[in-house]
Amino acid sequence: MSLGHDFGMIGLGTMGRNLVWNLADHGYSVAGLGRSQDRVNQLHEQSGDKDVHGYVDPKAFVHNLRRPRAIMLLVPAGSPVDDVIQELLPLLDQGDLIIDGGNSYYKDTERRVKDLEARKIGFFGMGVSGGAEGARHGPSMMPGGTEALWERVREMLESVAAKAEEDGGPCVALVGPGGSGHYVKTVHNGIEYGIMQQIAEVYDVLKRGMGQSNSQIADTFQAWDEGVLRSFLAHITVDVLRRKDPDTGKDLVDLISDKAKQKGTGKWTSQDAMDLGVPIPTIDAAVAAREMSGLKDERVKAELMYKVESPQLTADWLPADLLRDALLCAVILTYTQGFAQLGAASQEYGYNIKLDLVARIWRAGCIIRSTFLQQIMDAYGRDAALPNLLLDPKVSIQVSGLQGALRNVVCAVQGAGLPVPALSASLSYFDGFRSGRLPANLIQGQRDYFGSHTYERVDKPGVFHSDWESK
Ligand code: 6PG
Repeated sequence: MSLGHDFGMIGLGTMGRNLVWNLADHGYSVAGLGRSQDRVNQLHEQSGDKDVHGYVDPKAFVHNLRRPRAIMLLVPAGSPVDDVIQELLPLLDQGDLIIDGGNSYYKDTERRVKDLEARKIGFFGMGVSGGAEGARHGPSMMPGGTEALWERVREMLESVAAKAEEDGGPCVALVGPGGSGHYVKTVHNGIEYGIMQQIAEVYDVLKRGMGQSNSQIADTFQAWDEGVLRSFLAHITVDVLRRKDPDTGKDLVDLISDKAKQKGTGKWTSQDAMDLGVPIPTIDAAVAAREMSGLKDERVKAELMYKVESPQLTADWLPADLLRDALLCAVILTYTQGFAQLGAASQEYGYNIKLDLVARIWRAGCIIRSTFLQQIMDAYGRDAALPNLLLDPKVSIQVSGLQGALRNVVCAVQGAGLPVPALSASLSYFDGFRSGRLPANLIQGQRDYFGSHTYERVDKPGVFHSDWESK
C-alpha cells in the first residue's frame, strides 16, 4: 500500500466516494475516512486497481497523508463541519489545509477561516456543484481562500473539474478570499431555485393550462434543450417527465407529492440580498413558491372555496415558440439578478469576485450550466465593472427581443388564474429596472407625511420636509 496519499476525503457518501474515484482516475493517491466500516468496505470494493484507501481511524487517515496535507470534508453543513474540524485539529500540523466542500453558510466559513488561521491551519470554503454525477465525472468548484493555498491544490482540482465545451477550460478557480467560495455557491443555488421554479411554471401552463400530456411536454422541453435553452435543468426536466413508475406503470411525475423541500441556500440568497439592498425578486419568489407548496392542506381547502373554471389556454394563444422565448427571457433575468447580487456582495464584503470568472466556472459541471453563461462571461469580460447585465449592449438586444414574449405569456397565464410567481417576478424586475422614474417619489412623500422622514427633490439639492397637514 502506498503511503503519503495526495488527498484525503472525509465523508464517504455518494458525493464523497465519487470525488475520490474522480481524483484517483486522474492519477492521485486518495485516502477516504468513513464513519462506518461498511462505507469503507464499499469504497474498497468499488475501487478496483485505483490508488484509493479507506480508513475508519482518523489518526491513521491523517498520518498517512502527504504533508502539508489537503483534506476535504463532504459532510452536512452546520455543526457536523465544526465537529469534524475539532476532531482533526489535534492530529494536524501547521500548514495543513482543510477544504469544506459542503453547502455551508458563508458566515460560518468566515468564522472557521479566522479560527483556523490563528492555529496556522489553512481553510477553504469551496462550493461544489453538479451532484453525484458531477462529482464522479467533473463538478464545478468554487473555492474561496488564499492564493498560496490555492496554488497547492490547483492542479489537482483543475484536473478533476468539469471542462467547458467552449474552450476546454476547467470549471474551478479561486473566486476570492474567506467565505467568498461559499457565497458564490449560495447565489448559484438561489439562481437554481429561480430557474427550477420558472421551468415548473411553464410545465404547469402546458399541463394544467393546456391539458398536454407529460410526454408532449417532454418533447417540447427536449426541442428547447436542443436549441437556445440548452441547459442541464431543461435536460433533466425531459427525463423526469418521461420516467415511468415501475410499480404502477404511470408517469412517475404525477405520483410525486407537490410539496417542495429546501435545505436553505435559496433562503440565504434572499436574506443576504435583503441585507445588501439588492433586488432579486425572482429568487425571492422561488423561495416563497416552495413555501406555498408546503401549505398543501390549506391549499386543498382553499381550492374548494375559490375554485375557478379550469384555465383554458391554447397553443394558438400561447405557441411553443412564445413560451420558449418567455422562459429564456425569464431565465436571463434570473442570472442577471444573481450576478448583480454577487457584484454587490463582492464590494460590500471585499471579496473582489471577478464575475466573468464565475460565469466561466459555471459553464459546465454545475446545476445551472447553460449556453447563456458564455454570454455572461463575455459581457463581464468586456466590462468587469458592469453594474447589471441588462446594461450590456449585446444582452440588451437579446432581452429587448424576448421581453414581449414574457409579457404576453405572463398576461395570458395570470388572466387564466394560474400562478407564475417567478416568471412574473422576472418581468417586473425588467420593467422596474428599465423605468427611469418609478413611483417611489410618492412613497417618499408618504414617509415624510407620517414620520417626518424627509425627502430629496429632483429640482434642487438638499433634504426637505413638508408640513403635509397644513392646507
Ligand atoms: C448543486 C446543488 C446541490 C443541492 C442543492 C439542493 O449545485 O449540486 O445545488 O448543492 O442539490 O443544495 O438544495 P435544496 O435541497 O435546497 O433544493
